[in-house]
Amino acid sequence: MSTPPSPTVAPATGRLGVLTVGLGAVASTLIAGVELVKRGMGLPIGSLSQMGTIRLGKRTEARSPLVKDFVPLAALEDIVWGAWDVFPDDAYVAASRAGVLDGGKHIEAIADTLRDIRPMSAAFQLKYARNLHGEHTKGDISKRAMLEAIREDINTFRDTKQVDRVVMIWCASTEIFIEPGPAHMDLESFEKAIDADDDQIAPSMLYAYAALLEGVPFANGAPNLAVDTPVLRQYATDHNIPISGKDFKTGQTLMKTVLAPMLKARQLGLAGWYSTNILGNRDGEVLDAPENFKTKEESKLGVLEDILEPSKNPDLYGNVFHKVSINYYPPRGDNKEGWDNIDIFGWLNYPMQIKVDFLCRDSILAAPLALDLVLFSDLAQRAGLGGIQEWLSFYYKSPQVAPGLYAEQDLFIQLTKLKNTLRWIMGEDQITHLGREYYAS
Ligand SMILES: NC(=O)c1ccc[n+]([C@@H]2O[C@H](COP(=O)([O-])OP(=O)(O)OC[C@H]3O[C@@H](n4cnc5c(N)ncnc54)[C@H](O)[C@@H]3O)[C@@H](O)[C@H]2O)c1
Repeated sequence: MSTPPSPTVAPATGRLGVLTVGLGAVASTLIAGVELVKRGMGLPIGSLSQMGTIRLGKRTEARSPLVKDFVPLAALEDIVWGAWDVFPDDAYVAASRAGVLDGGKHIEAIADTLRDIRPMSAAFQLKYARNLHGEHTKGDISKRAMLEAIREDINTFRDTKQVDRVVMIWCASTEIFIEPGPAHMDLESFEKAIDADDDQIAPSMLYAYAALLEGVPFANGAPNLAVDTPVLRQYATDHNIPISGKDFKTGQTLMKTVLAPMLKARQLGLAGWYSTNILGNRDGEVLDAPENFKTKEESKLGVLEDILEPSKNPDLYGNVFHKVSINYYPPRGDNKEGWDNIDIFGWLNYPMQIKVDFLCRDSILAAPLALDLVLFSDLAQRAGLGGIQEWLSFYYKSPQVAPGLYAEQDLFIQLTKLKNTLRWIMGEDQITHLGREYYAS
């Protein structure tokens, strides 16, 4: 099939409203970071949209503009924030409580702006995150009433902040594990399940549905289903609204999707991959509940199989023991430590080991991804690209793809896909890396 014609992109004029579901560590780090960058008080390190370049044309042309100069992205100055949370803390309190940023250097300097960002009450039910005890909720109301209340919040935000476009991003806690079932198959069943207050309809699905009903792109930074159900995928496609997910790819899985492709590229075998980590923030506390960890585990486990494709190479990858655990350990706060022990084998089956000890900062890694997702989702909307945005897989542990497709998990294939999509949107040639033209006589 030939490449479809490039779309026309509407300009990024006016204000972009960014609604974060959840105003915890990731969301407050995102907001504070952008506000600091706007004031020239920090660099958006880790953000491809802000710091990355993109090669255009042949290597001899030496054209490699910054991504943000190449595609018409919303300017950081045009972002207006809104949020929901189960706790009433404003962004100043949330950022201070999260303990990610240095208070003196990075919170006090923008204290007034952060204090002005107060969350709307959350559509929340304890059964979906039982370690979370906050009172700032819409109360014990029906799911239909929650849906309508979220829609009203979106419209009130749009009107009072006078924004021209809105994007919603899930930065809230990971909900309990729910598998797609009959309630999620089509609009009729979904609507019926909402009216019946069916447990299969989690709050994240109500936020996602409310966003789509209001024509708002939705990105999902956590592994819970939210927008990743047949009914909402179809709705987003039919109404041409960009969606993407799931689960920011920040620490251990980021490493995995770099190291596993290396093993496969070199045809080295894998016997086992043991990943464990300690984490002490509220995310870690929520994930300490087994039903919530199960959602995360599914998202983390899928990666290796997709990359290694054991059925195609059973001698190397047919018998891999893969284990992932997360341990809630309060003293570390947001500073996660992740250990990987990787048992590999080479020529004639001789065993070898790789050890990784990644002392990372969870939200410092996640905030730039959230920024890029917001800006690229808005770009997709203005380019008329609805439904699943597979080119944003780069940012996710468990990328949403069309039914029947396996997800591309290799970070560098994902990067190529993202950059080629940007080239295509802007009418530039795809880069195939064939490069015969440099050697033609
Ligand atoms: N930080 C990372 O590196 C990373 C990576 C991948 C995924 N994630 C996911 O991103 C999400 C946010 O992480 P975090 O570290 O900011 O967690 P956090 O616990 O600091 O913040 C989440 C916030 O969401 C709120 N919340 C929960 N349910 C809600 C609801 N129904 N409506 C509104 N607010 C709600 C909570 O009260 C909390 O303040 C988590 O699901 C986490 O698993 C984070």
